[in-house]
Amino acid sequence: MDFFKNTKNLTDIHAVQIKIPDEVPDEMPKYTADFMDMLRSGQSPMTDESFEEQMLGHSKEYRLKEAYNMAGMYAFVSWRWVEPFAEWIGNRKVLEVMAGRGWLTYALRQKGIDIAATDNFSWKAREWVETLTQVDEADAIESIDIFKEEMDILIIAWPYMDNTAYQVMKRLNEVRPDVPIVYIGEMGGCTADDDFWGSFEIIHDEKFEKAASLYQSWFGIHDNLYLGKMRSDRNES
Ligand SMILES: C[S@@+](CC[C@H](N)C(=O)[O-])C[C@H]1O[C@@H](n2cnc3c(N)ncnc32)[C@H](O)[C@@H]1O
Repeated sequence: MDFFKNTKNLTDIHAVQIKIPDEVPDEMPKYTADFMDMLRSGQSPMTDESFEEQMLGHSKEYRLKEAYNMAGMYAFVSWRWVEPFAEWIGNRKVLEVMAGRGWLTYALRQKGIDIAATDNFSWKAREWVETLTQVDEADAIESIDIFKEEMDILIIAWPYMDNTAYQVMKRLNEVRPDVPIVYIGEMGGCTADDDFWGSFEIIHDEKFEKAASLYQSWFGIHDNLYLGKMRSDRNES
């Protein structure tokens, strides 16, 4: 679906009404080229034409990012990476905390994954009203205790830049140190905080990294999927 099919300039782009359907997209609609790709293919990213195209592309992506956020989607959920990610999960049980409207859980359930999702709904009234799938109301840290016997993997996607993600990881490490964390967000930047990144140790896993490499970010956003756990030398902090 191209919301910007008939747009020619910035005024047109800003006038478009965007309604995000409650369906998981195949992939992120991209309107900007990667400068490195352009250089690699011998194109100069700096011709007047491509510069203007890039500027209009940025505006389209910015508007789409806002629209998806309003529809409750921060980590961009698309089949492109969710399908191989679901294969990597296999028959393991998953807990997603701070799941928001539940887009990722919604997609994973469609792939048959056994997943529970929680959120304290503190952001609910901001943007969206109904979740897309069952998301239980619970604080993220308390959820670790509630589901500690029923998870093999923990997902945290786009937590706010406060200490919650760190506290969740710390609690998980106390009660289920064997459970790996799938983190979706920026490494430093607009998700989680320095305590989290100072204590998160990456786990290398080829199959996971293959799925993660298919994840797409909006222009100017540097989020990604990371697999990890709490660093062992931080256990006592
Ligand atoms: C930026 S949104 C991310 C939502 C979703 N994971 C995504 O990527 O689209 C952050 C979510 O964290 C939730 N949240 C914030 N603090 C929380 C806490 N202490 N316990 C549970 N959920 C919390 C908010 O209600 C909000 O839905």
